[in-house]
Amino acid sequence: MNNWTPDSWRNFPILQQPNYTDAAAVARVEQQLGNLPPLVFAGEARALKRQLADVTQGKAFLLQGGDCAESFAEFNAGNIRDTFKVLLQMAVVLTFAGSCPVVKVGRMAGQFAKPRSADTETVDGITLPSYRGDIINDLDFTETARVPNPEKLVQAYNQSAATLNLLRAFAQGGFADLNKVHQWNLDFVGNSPLGERYENLAAQIDKSLSFMQACGITSQTAPQLHETSLYTSHEALLLNFEQALTRQDSITGDWYDCSAHMLWIGDRTRQVDGAHVEFLRGVKNPLGFKAGPTMQADDLLRLLDILNPENEAGRINIIARMGADNVTEHLPALVRAVQAEGREVLWSSDPMHGNTVKSSTGYKTRMVDDVLREMKGFFDVHAAEGTYAGGVHFEMTGQNVTECMGGAHDISAEDLRNRYHTACDPRLNADQALELAFLIADTLKDARINR
Ligand code: PEP
Ligand code: CO
Repeated sequence: MNNWTPDSWRNFPILQQPNYTDAAAVARVEQQLGNLPPLVFAGEARALKRQLADVTQGKAFLLQGGDCAESFAEFNAGNIRDTFKVLLQMAVVLTFAGSCPVVKVGRMAGQFAKPRSADTETVDGITLPSYRGDIINDLDFTETARVPNPEKLVQAYNQSAATLNLLRAFAQGGFADLNKVHQWNLDFVGNSPLGERYENLAAQIDKSLSFMQACGITSQTAPQLHETSLYTSHEALLLNFEQALTRQDSITGDWYDCSAHMLWIGDRTRQVDGAHVEFLRGVKNPLGFKAGPTMQADDLLRLLDILNPENEAGRINIIARMGADNVTEHLPALVRAVQAEGREVLWSSDPMHGNTVKSSTGYKTRMVDDVLREMKGFFDVHAAEGTYAGGVHFEMTGQNVTECMGGAHDISAEDLRNRYHTACDPRLNADQALELAFLIADTLKDARINR
Protein backbone atom coordinates (compact mmCIF):
# COMPACT_ATOMS: atom_id res chain seq x y z
CA MET A 1 0.00 0.00 0.00
CA ASN A 2 2.08 2.96 -1.21
CA ASN A 3 2.81 5.51 1.43
CA TRP A 4 -0.31 4.86 3.45
CA THR A 5 -0.21 5.15 7.22
CA PRO A 6 -3.13 5.60 9.63
CA ASP A 7 -2.26 9.31 9.77
CA SER A 8 -1.28 9.95 6.13
CA TRP A 9 -4.69 11.64 5.61
CA ARG A 10 -3.37 14.55 7.67
CA ASN A 11 -1.34 15.67 4.62
CA PHE A 12 -4.43 15.99 2.40
CA PRO A 13 -7.08 18.70 2.11
CA ILE A 14 -10.00 17.93 4.39
CA LEU A 15 -13.60 19.16 4.49
CA GLN A 16 -16.37 19.14 7.11
CA GLN A 17 -14.24 19.07 10.27
CA PRO A 18 -14.96 20.99 13.49
CA ASN A 19 -12.75 23.91 14.52
CA TYR A 20 -11.60 22.91 17.98
CA THR A 21 -10.20 25.72 20.08
CA ASP A 22 -7.83 23.63 22.23
CA ALA A 23 -5.49 21.51 20.07
CA ALA A 24 -3.76 20.00 23.11
CA ALA A 25 -7.08 18.73 24.49
CA VAL A 26 -7.87 17.13 21.11
CA ALA A 27 -4.47 15.40 21.05
CA ARG A 28 -5.05 14.07 24.60
CA VAL A 29 -8.44 12.63 23.63
CA GLU A 30 -7.02 11.06 20.47
CA GLN A 31 -4.37 9.34 22.57
CA GLN A 32 -6.96 8.18 25.09
CA LEU A 33 -9.14 6.70 22.29
CA GLY A 34 -6.10 5.04 20.78
CA ASN A 35 -5.64 3.07 24.00
CA LEU A 36 -9.25 1.93 24.30
CA PRO A 37 -10.35 -1.48 23.00
CA PRO A 38 -11.58 -1.78 19.41
CA LEU A 39 -15.38 -1.75 19.02
CA VAL A 40 -15.44 -4.46 16.34
CA PHE A 41 -12.95 -7.09 15.23
CA ALA A 42 -11.18 -7.54 11.94
CA GLY A 43 -12.62 -11.05 11.52
CA GLU A 44 -16.15 -9.64 11.70
CA ALA A 45 -15.38 -7.03 9.05
CA ARG A 46 -14.03 -9.84 6.85
CA ALA A 47 -17.22 -11.87 7.42
CA LEU A 48 -19.32 -8.88 6.35
CA LYS A 49 -17.15 -8.43 3.27
CA ARG A 50 -17.80 -12.04 2.26
CA GLN A 51 -21.54 -11.51 2.67
CA LEU A 52 -21.42 -8.29 0.66
CA ALA A 53 -19.55 -10.19 -2.04
CA ASP A 54 -22.59 -12.49 -2.21
CA VAL A 55 -24.80 -9.43 -2.58
CA THR A 56 -22.55 -8.07 -5.33
CA GLN A 57 -23.01 -11.35 -7.16
CA GLY A 58 -26.80 -11.20 -6.88
CA LYS A 59 -27.16 -13.92 -4.24
CA ALA A 60 -28.41 -11.74 -1.39
CA PHE A 61 -29.76 -8.28 -0.61
CA LEU A 62 -28.34 -5.53 1.61
CA LEU A 63 -30.53 -3.71 4.12
CA GLN A 64 -28.76 -0.76 5.70
CA GLY A 65 -30.64 1.55 8.04
CA GLY A 66 -30.90 3.50 11.25
CA ASP A 67 -30.66 7.01 12.58
CA CYS A 68 -29.52 10.00 10.61
CA ALA A 69 -27.63 11.03 13.73
CA GLU A 70 -27.57 9.10 16.98
CA SER A 71 -28.03 11.37 19.97
CA PHE A 72 -26.78 11.36 23.54
CA ALA A 73 -30.18 12.43 24.88
CA GLU A 74 -32.15 9.68 23.09
CA PHE A 75 -29.74 6.94 24.16
CA ASN A 76 -31.64 4.18 25.96
CA ALA A 77 -32.32 0.45 25.63
CA GLY A 78 -35.86 0.95 24.34
CA ASN A 79 -34.78 3.02 21.37
CA ILE A 80 -32.02 0.58 20.43
CA ARG A 81 -34.42 -2.37 20.75
CA ASP A 82 -37.10 -0.73 18.64
CA THR A 83 -34.77 0.20 15.78
CA PHE A 84 -33.35 -3.33 15.88
CA LYS A 85 -36.92 -4.71 15.79
CA VAL A 86 -37.85 -2.72 12.69
CA LEU A 87 -34.67 -3.80 10.91
CA LEU A 88 -35.48 -7.42 11.77
CA GLN A 89 -39.05 -7.04 10.59
CA MET A 90 -37.95 -5.51 7.32
CA ALA A 91 -35.36 -8.26 6.89
CA VAL A 92 -37.95 -10.95 7.53
CA VAL A 93 -40.31 -9.39 5.00
CA LEU A 94 -37.52 -9.25 2.42
CA THR A 95 -36.29 -12.76 3.18
CA PHE A 96 -39.69 -14.39 3.19
CA ALA A 97 -41.71 -12.34 0.72
CA GLY A 98 -38.69 -11.66 -1.50
CA SER A 99 -37.20 -15.17 -1.07
CA CYS A 100 -33.78 -13.65 -0.64
CA PRO A 101 -31.12 -13.78 2.11
CA VAL A 102 -30.68 -10.34 3.66
CA VAL A 103 -27.47 -8.83 5.03
CA LYS A 104 -28.37 -6.41 7.83
CA VAL A 105 -26.21 -3.37 8.54
CA GLY A 106 -27.27 -0.73 11.08
CA ARG A 107 -26.55 2.97 10.95
CA MET A 108 -26.00 2.44 14.65
CA ALA A 109 -23.34 2.33 17.37
CA GLY A 110 -21.25 5.16 15.91
CA GLN A 111 -23.40 7.22 13.50
CA PHE A 112 -22.84 10.59 15.19
CA ALA A 113 -20.90 13.04 13.02
CA LYS A 114 -22.81 15.04 10.41
CA PRO A 115 -21.59 16.93 7.35
CA ARG A 116 -23.43 20.23 6.96
CA SER A 117 -24.26 22.34 3.93
CA ALA A 118 -23.13 25.51 5.77
CA ASP A 119 -20.52 26.08 8.50
CA THR A 120 -22.81 28.49 10.34
CA GLU A 121 -26.49 28.90 11.06
CA THR A 122 -28.27 32.24 11.46
CA VAL A 123 -31.48 32.64 13.48
CA ASP A 124 -33.03 36.06 14.17
CA GLY A 125 -29.83 37.82 13.18
CA ILE A 126 -27.60 35.67 15.41
CA THR A 127 -24.95 33.53 13.67
CA LEU A 128 -23.45 30.47 15.37
CA PRO A 129 -21.45 27.43 14.19
CA SER A 130 -23.69 24.71 12.73
CA TYR A 131 -24.63 21.67 14.80
CA ARG A 132 -22.39 18.80 13.59
CA GLY A 133 -23.69 15.90 15.67
CA ASP A 134 -23.47 15.05 19.38
CA ILE A 135 -19.93 13.74 18.93
CA ILE A 136 -18.88 17.36 18.22
CA ASN A 137 -21.25 19.96 19.72
CA ASP A 138 -24.81 20.41 21.00
CA LEU A 139 -28.02 21.08 19.11
CA ASP A 140 -29.22 23.97 21.34
CA PHE A 141 -28.92 27.30 19.60
CA THR A 142 -26.60 28.95 22.12
CA GLU A 143 -23.01 30.01 21.85
CA THR A 144 -21.72 27.54 24.47
CA ALA A 145 -23.71 24.61 23.04
CA ARG A 146 -22.21 25.07 19.60
CA VAL A 147 -18.56 25.12 20.71
CA PRO A 148 -16.95 21.83 19.60
CA ASN A 149 -15.86 19.85 22.66
CA PRO A 150 -13.29 17.03 22.18
CA GLU A 151 -14.50 15.21 25.32
CA LYS A 152 -17.61 14.32 23.33
CA LEU A 153 -15.50 11.96 21.21
CA VAL A 154 -15.03 9.80 24.31
CA GLN A 155 -18.73 9.91 25.17
CA ALA A 156 -19.56 8.82 21.62
CA TYR A 157 -17.10 5.93 21.92
CA ASN A 158 -18.69 4.83 25.21
CA GLN A 159 -22.21 5.08 23.84
CA SER A 160 -21.18 3.08 20.77
CA ALA A 161 -19.67 0.37 22.97
CA ALA A 162 -22.82 0.09 25.09
CA THR A 163 -25.06 0.09 21.99
CA LEU A 164 -23.02 -2.64 20.36
CA ASN A 165 -23.11 -4.68 23.54
CA LEU A 166 -26.90 -4.62 23.54
CA LEU A 167 -27.17 -5.28 19.80
CA ARG A 168 -24.92 -8.31 20.13
CA ALA A 169 -27.10 -9.59 22.98
CA PHE A 170 -30.29 -9.04 20.97
CA ALA A 171 -28.84 -10.70 17.87
CA GLN A 172 -27.46 -13.75 19.62
CA GLY A 173 -29.35 -14.12 22.90
CA GLY A 174 -32.66 -15.40 21.56
CA PHE A 175 -34.53 -12.12 20.92
CA ALA A 176 -34.06 -12.57 17.18
CA ASP A 177 -35.28 -16.18 17.17
CA LEU A 178 -37.51 -16.66 14.12
CA ASN A 179 -40.10 -18.29 16.37
CA LYS A 180 -40.61 -14.83 17.86
CA VAL A 181 -41.42 -12.89 14.67
CA HIS A 182 -44.97 -12.40 15.91
CA GLN A 183 -43.75 -10.68 19.04
CA TRP A 184 -41.57 -8.17 17.24
CA ASN A 185 -44.51 -6.03 16.23
CA LEU A 186 -44.49 -2.53 17.62
CA ASP A 187 -47.75 -1.40 19.20
CA PHE A 188 -48.39 1.43 16.82
CA VAL A 189 -47.76 -0.74 13.77
CA GLY A 190 -50.25 -3.31 15.01
CA ASN A 191 -53.10 -0.87 14.35
CA SER A 192 -52.13 -0.09 10.77
CA PRO A 193 -52.97 -1.86 7.50
CA LEU A 194 -49.31 -2.87 7.39
CA GLY A 195 -49.66 -4.49 10.79
CA GLU A 196 -52.20 -6.87 9.34
CA ARG A 197 -50.00 -7.68 6.36
CA TYR A 198 -47.10 -8.30 8.70
CA GLU A 199 -49.26 -10.54 10.91
CA ASN A 200 -50.21 -12.65 7.87
CA LEU A 201 -46.60 -13.05 6.94
CA ALA A 202 -45.66 -13.94 10.52
CA ALA A 203 -48.41 -16.58 10.52
CA GLN A 204 -47.00 -18.12 7.34
CA ILE A 205 -43.55 -18.20 8.89
CA ASP A 206 -44.97 -19.94 11.98
CA LYS A 207 -46.48 -22.56 9.72
CA SER A 208 -43.18 -23.13 7.93
CA LEU A 209 -41.39 -23.38 11.26
CA SER A 210 -43.90 -25.95 12.55
CA PHE A 211 -43.33 -28.01 9.44
CA MET A 212 -39.56 -27.77 9.90
CA GLN A 213 -39.91 -28.68 13.56
CA ALA A 214 -41.82 -31.80 12.57
CA CYS A 215 -38.83 -32.63 10.37
CA GLY A 216 -36.48 -32.18 13.33
CA ILE A 217 -35.17 -28.70 12.48
CA THR A 218 -35.58 -26.43 15.50
CA SER A 219 -33.90 -23.44 17.14
CA GLN A 220 -31.87 -25.92 19.16
CA THR A 221 -30.64 -27.88 16.17
CA ALA A 222 -30.30 -25.00 13.69
CA PRO A 223 -28.63 -21.89 15.12
CA GLN A 224 -29.70 -19.95 11.98
CA LEU A 225 -33.24 -19.95 13.37
CA HIS A 226 -32.17 -18.80 16.81
CA GLU A 227 -29.75 -15.99 16.11
CA THR A 228 -28.89 -13.41 13.52
CA SER A 229 -26.09 -11.00 12.67
CA LEU A 230 -26.41 -7.26 12.64
CA TYR A 231 -23.34 -5.39 11.46
CA THR A 232 -22.64 -1.73 12.23
CA SER A 233 -21.74 1.17 9.97
CA HIS A 234 -21.43 4.94 9.96
CA GLU A 235 -20.11 7.78 7.84
CA ALA A 236 -16.36 7.99 8.45
CA LEU A 237 -16.35 11.77 8.75
CA LEU A 238 -14.21 12.59 11.78
CA LEU A 239 -10.91 11.15 10.70
CA ASN A 240 -9.10 11.71 14.00
CA PHE A 241 -11.71 9.49 15.70
CA GLU A 242 -11.44 6.88 12.94
CA GLN A 243 -7.64 6.93 13.05
CA ALA A 244 -7.66 6.37 16.82
CA LEU A 245 -9.81 3.25 16.38
CA THR A 246 -7.71 1.89 13.49
CA ARG A 247 -5.72 -1.17 14.49
CA GLN A 248 -3.42 -3.66 12.83
CA ASP A 249 -4.93 -7.13 12.68
CA SER A 250 -2.63 -9.61 14.39
CA ILE A 251 -3.64 -12.44 12.04
CA THR A 252 -3.14 -10.78 8.65
CA GLY A 253 -1.07 -7.69 9.48
CA ASP A 254 -3.69 -5.58 7.66
CA TRP A 255 -5.17 -2.37 9.06
CA TYR A 256 -8.84 -2.24 10.01
CA ASP A 257 -10.91 0.70 11.20
CA CYS A 258 -12.39 -1.01 14.25
CA SER A 259 -14.98 1.70 14.98
CA ALA A 260 -17.53 -0.18 12.81
CA HIS A 261 -17.72 -3.11 10.41
CA MET A 262 -18.44 -0.93 7.39
CA LEU A 263 -17.59 2.73 6.82
CA TRP A 264 -18.83 5.02 4.12
CA ILE A 265 -17.73 8.32 2.60
CA GLY A 266 -20.41 11.01 2.31
CA ASP A 267 -21.39 12.80 -0.86
CA ARG A 268 -19.65 15.96 0.39
CA THR A 269 -16.27 14.39 1.23
CA ARG A 270 -15.61 11.99 -1.65
CA GLN A 271 -12.96 14.10 -3.46
CA VAL A 272 -10.44 11.73 -5.11
CA ASP A 273 -7.52 13.80 -3.78
CA GLY A 274 -9.04 14.49 -0.37
CA ALA A 275 -8.29 13.23 3.13
CA HIS A 276 -11.31 10.94 3.47
CA VAL A 277 -10.45 8.89 0.41
CA GLU A 278 -6.80 8.77 1.49
CA PHE A 279 -7.71 7.42 4.93
CA LEU A 280 -10.20 4.80 3.80
CA ARG A 281 -8.06 3.38 0.98
CA GLY A 282 -5.71 1.98 3.64
CA VAL A 283 -8.18 0.06 5.82
CA LYS A 284 -9.50 -3.32 4.75
CA ASN A 285 -13.11 -2.94 5.93
CA PRO A 286 -15.96 -3.05 3.44
CA LEU A 287 -16.53 0.54 2.28
CA GLY A 288 -19.31 2.58 0.81
CA PHE A 289 -19.43 5.90 -0.91
CA LYS A 290 -22.42 8.04 -1.68
CA ALA A 291 -23.06 9.04 -5.27
CA GLY A 292 -25.25 12.12 -5.65
CA PRO A 293 -26.39 13.80 -8.87
CA THR A 294 -23.03 15.58 -9.33
CA MET A 295 -21.05 12.32 -9.47
CA GLN A 296 -19.38 11.85 -12.87
CA ALA A 297 -18.46 8.46 -14.31
CA ASP A 298 -14.74 9.41 -14.49
CA ASP A 299 -14.59 10.33 -10.83
CA LEU A 300 -16.46 7.22 -9.88
CA LEU A 301 -13.94 5.03 -11.73
CA ARG A 302 -11.04 6.88 -10.14
CA LEU A 303 -12.57 6.30 -6.72
CA LEU A 304 -12.79 2.61 -7.52
CA ASP A 305 -9.13 2.61 -8.69
CA ILE A 306 -8.03 4.14 -5.41
CA LEU A 307 -10.34 2.36 -2.98
CA ASN A 308 -10.46 -1.06 -4.63
CA PRO A 309 -7.35 -1.51 -6.78
CA GLU A 310 -7.68 -5.29 -6.65
CA ASN A 311 -11.32 -5.20 -7.75
CA GLU A 312 -12.37 -7.31 -4.80
CA ALA A 313 -16.11 -8.13 -4.62
CA GLY A 314 -17.66 -7.02 -1.31
CA ARG A 315 -15.21 -4.17 -0.82
CA ILE A 316 -17.27 -1.38 -2.41
CA ASN A 317 -20.89 -0.42 -2.02
CA ILE A 318 -21.91 2.53 -4.18
CA ILE A 319 -24.83 4.19 -2.44
CA ALA A 320 -26.75 6.14 -5.08
CA ARG A 321 -28.75 9.11 -3.69
CA MET A 322 -29.79 10.95 -6.79
CA GLY A 323 -33.26 12.23 -5.93
CA ALA A 324 -36.49 10.87 -7.36
CA ASP A 325 -36.38 13.28 -10.30
CA ASN A 326 -32.76 12.51 -11.22
CA VAL A 327 -32.22 8.83 -10.75
CA THR A 328 -33.29 7.54 -14.14
CA GLU A 329 -31.36 10.32 -15.84
CA HIS A 330 -28.05 10.17 -13.91
CA LEU A 331 -27.66 6.58 -12.76
CA PRO A 332 -27.44 4.75 -16.12
CA ALA A 333 -24.16 6.44 -17.17
CA LEU A 334 -22.55 5.40 -13.89
CA VAL A 335 -23.81 1.84 -14.11
CA ARG A 336 -22.61 1.56 -17.71
CA ALA A 337 -19.14 2.88 -16.88
CA VAL A 338 -18.77 0.35 -14.08
CA GLN A 339 -20.02 -2.46 -16.33
CA ALA A 340 -17.76 -1.49 -19.23
CA GLU A 341 -14.72 -1.63 -16.95
CA GLY A 342 -15.78 -4.90 -15.34
CA ARG A 343 -15.69 -3.52 -11.82
CA GLU A 344 -17.11 -5.51 -8.91
CA VAL A 345 -19.55 -3.18 -7.23
CA LEU A 346 -22.55 -3.51 -4.97
CA TRP A 347 -25.16 -0.94 -6.01
CA SER A 348 -27.53 0.24 -3.33
CA SER A 349 -30.13 2.99 -3.19
CA ASP A 350 -30.37 5.71 -0.56
CA PRO A 351 -33.76 7.16 -1.53
CA MET A 352 -33.68 9.63 1.38
CA HIS A 353 -30.89 12.19 0.93
CA GLY A 354 -31.79 13.38 -2.57
CA ASN A 355 -35.40 14.00 -1.54
CA THR A 356 -35.27 16.43 1.36
CA VAL A 357 -37.81 19.27 1.12
CA LYS A 358 -39.28 21.92 3.41
CA SER A 359 -42.91 21.37 4.42
CA SER A 360 -45.48 24.16 4.30
CA THR A 361 -45.29 24.07 8.12
CA GLY A 362 -41.54 24.76 8.02
CA TYR A 363 -40.09 21.30 8.73
CA LYS A 364 -37.28 19.57 6.86
CA THR A 365 -39.13 16.53 5.58
CA ARG A 366 -39.33 13.84 2.89
CA MET A 367 -42.38 12.49 1.08
CA VAL A 368 -42.72 8.72 1.27
CA ASP A 369 -43.91 8.91 -2.34
CA ASP A 370 -40.61 10.47 -3.47
CA VAL A 371 -38.67 7.85 -1.51
CA LEU A 372 -40.68 5.20 -3.30
CA ARG A 373 -40.27 6.81 -6.68
CA GLU A 374 -36.49 6.98 -6.31
CA MET A 375 -36.34 3.35 -5.27
CA LYS A 376 -38.49 2.29 -8.16
CA GLY A 377 -36.32 4.32 -10.53
CA PHE A 378 -33.24 2.63 -9.09
CA PHE A 379 -34.70 -0.84 -9.67
CA ASP A 380 -35.84 0.13 -13.19
CA VAL A 381 -32.38 1.37 -14.18
CA HIS A 382 -30.77 -1.87 -13.04
CA ALA A 383 -33.41 -3.96 -14.79
CA ALA A 384 -32.76 -2.02 -18.02
CA GLU A 385 -28.97 -2.31 -17.73
CA GLY A 386 -29.03 -5.99 -16.76
CA THR A 387 -27.29 -5.27 -13.46
CA TYR A 388 -28.28 -6.18 -9.91
CA ALA A 389 -30.01 -3.68 -7.62
CA GLY A 390 -28.32 -4.98 -4.48
CA GLY A 391 -29.58 -3.00 -1.54
CA VAL A 392 -31.27 -0.11 0.18
CA HIS A 393 -30.11 2.48 2.68
CA PHE A 394 -32.70 4.15 4.91
CA GLU A 395 -32.90 6.70 7.69
CA MET A 396 -35.45 5.19 10.03
CA THR A 397 -36.34 4.64 13.64
CA GLY A 398 -38.49 2.27 15.67
CA GLN A 399 -40.17 5.24 17.36
CA ASN A 400 -43.59 6.49 16.35
CA VAL A 401 -42.29 9.76 14.93
CA THR A 402 -43.92 12.06 12.40
CA GLU A 403 -40.97 13.31 10.35
CA CYS A 404 -41.60 12.05 6.79
CA MET A 405 -44.89 12.83 5.04
CA GLY A 406 -47.28 10.29 3.54
CA GLY A 407 -47.28 6.53 4.02
CA ALA A 408 -50.13 4.26 5.13
CA HIS A 409 -51.16 6.74 7.85
CA ASP A 410 -50.79 9.61 5.40
CA ILE A 411 -48.81 11.94 7.67
CA SER A 412 -49.55 15.54 6.67
CA ALA A 413 -47.55 18.76 6.90
CA GLU A 414 -49.63 19.58 10.01
CA ASP A 415 -48.89 16.17 11.56
CA LEU A 416 -45.16 16.93 11.45
CA ARG A 417 -45.77 19.19 14.47
CA ASN A 418 -46.77 16.19 16.62
CA ARG A 419 -43.67 14.02 16.97
CA TYR A 420 -40.78 15.55 15.06
CA HIS A 421 -37.81 14.38 17.16
CA THR A 422 -34.82 14.02 14.84
CA ALA A 423 -31.65 15.97 15.60
CA CYS A 424 -30.85 16.10 11.90
CA ASP A 425 -32.70 14.58 8.92
CA PRO A 426 -36.31 13.29 8.90
CA ARG A 427 -36.57 9.52 9.44
CA LEU A 428 -39.12 6.95 8.34
CA ASN A 429 -41.11 5.58 11.26
CA ALA A 430 -41.55 1.82 11.60
CA ASP A 431 -44.84 1.86 9.75
CA GLN A 432 -43.37 3.70 6.76
CA ALA A 433 -40.23 1.56 6.79
CA LEU A 434 -42.23 -1.65 6.80
CA GLU A 435 -44.39 -0.41 3.97
CA LEU A 436 -41.28 0.12 1.87
CA ALA A 437 -39.98 -3.32 2.80
CA PHE A 438 -43.14 -4.94 1.42
CA LEU A 439 -42.84 -2.98 -1.78
CA ILE A 440 -39.18 -3.86 -2.21
CA ALA A 441 -39.98 -7.51 -1.53
CA ASP A 442 -42.42 -7.53 -4.44
CA THR A 443 -39.91 -5.83 -6.75
CA LEU A 444 -37.12 -8.08 -5.59
CA LYS A 445 -39.09 -11.20 -6.32
CA ASP A 446 -39.78 -9.98 -9.87
CA ALA A 447 -36.17 -8.89 -10.38
CA ARG A 448 -34.82 -12.27 -9.28
CA ILE A 449 -37.33 -14.21 -11.33
CA ASN A 450 -36.32 -12.23 -14.41
CA ARG A 451 -32.58 -12.71 -13.95
C1 PEP B 1 -26.17 10.76 5.54
O1 PEP B 1 -26.15 9.60 5.11
O2 PEP B 1 -26.65 11.07 6.66
C2 PEP B 1 -25.65 11.84 4.66
C3 PEP B 1 -25.29 13.00 5.13
O3 PEP B 1 -25.68 11.50 3.36
P1 PEP B 1 -25.04 12.18 2.05
O4 PEP B 1 -23.56 12.16 2.25
O5 PEP B 1 -25.50 11.27 0.98
O6 PEP B 1 -25.61 13.56 1.96
CO1 CO C 1 -29.01 12.10 6.91
